[in-house]
Amino acid sequence: MEKVRIVEVGPRDGLQNEKQAIPTATKLELIERLAAAGLRDIEATSFVSPKWVPQMADHAEIMAGLQRRPGVNYPVLAPNLKGFEAAVAAGVTEVAVFAAASEAFSQKNINCSIAESINRFAPVFEAARQHGVKVRGYVSCVVACPYDGAIAPDKVAEVAARLHDLGSYEVSLGDTIGAGTPASVLRMLEAVATKVPVAQLAGHYHDTYGMAAANVYASYQFGVRVFDSSVAGLGGCPYAKGATGNVATEDVVYLLQGLGADTGVDLQRLVDCGAWISEQLGRAPQSRVTRALLAK
Ligand code: HMG
Ligand code: MG
Repeated sequence: MEKVRIVEVGPRDGLQNEKQAIPTATKLELIERLAAAGLRDIEATSFVSPKWVPQMADHAEIMAGLQRRPGVNYPVLAPNLKGFEAAVAAGVTEVAVFAAASEAFSQKNINCSIAESINRFAPVFEAARQHGVKVRGYVSCVVACPYDGAIAPDKVAEVAARLHDLGSYEVSLGDTIGAGTPASVLRMLEAVATKVPVAQLAGHYHDTYGMAAANVYASYQFGVRVFDSSVAGLGGCPYAKGATGNVATEDVVYLLQGLGADTGVDLQRLVDCGAWISEQLGRAPQSRVTRALLAK
């Protein structure tokens, strides 16, 4: 059976843009329910500036409160050495740095140019090697940017290659505003795959235009075997106005199960988790699969 790794980003990407205060205990229970549903990679929080992203200000409490399960990874975002050091002090063993393929988005998101961001990441990779910490790299705006419009696939390939060469064990390709279609995502993947092996790529697709599941399918056919998703389709990006959450994890699991792939996830438990967190946030689950199964 073909194995597919799902990186659950709900507790981070899903919650980072929430305006309402979410108790740390609720975030911890979400992470625990996700692990109980079989997810093995759960992005737990971000070690970014609390002035920029207030919802992730409780990062140290999250790491301290985790009931770590054997075999489960709890990566976090770290934009610079300061974030990396705080993460390691909190017991983190995997971080993700995040660059963009668009200059304007890089400025809005992390307050520096693409080249400057790479310069800031270099010491993070160096420190990570010393601490035995794994580093994942993200590229945002792999299809389009909310400020600069369409992004050239070659530009995505160039940034992905930089992150790969610096030492990312995997590069996650973010369609931040969910504007991609299977055609544009495949053009992007073809360019990136000339620089980074497909086995080290992940698809990170937001669902703003309802294309994310189609983009997962196209990427799977291309050979990608790692996908980022968010339970109940939670989320949005603080620096991409109007962008909705990631593709819902429930929908990705259902799609991949239909293809005969093994995700290791118990769909029913995941659906229960999606219904639970949606209730905590006072809204309906965005996952079509969850809605369908709850209506049964
Ligand atoms: P800056 O203001 O340029 O940084 O922010 P600075 O180095 O000049 O520092 C300014 C202040 O921030 C200082 O504090 C620093 O100590 C503090 P002050 O002296 O003013 O009190 N600071 C920090 N505090 C906590 N943790 C840190 C840290 N670094 C500096 N790590 C910075 C630069 C990157 C910090 C800022 O722009 C930031 O935090 N941005 C947040 C970006 C973010 O979290 N965006 C959302 C996640 S990315 C995403 O969602 C896309 C993704 O899902 C893929 C996709 O969908 O495309 C991954
Ligand atoms: Mg994202």
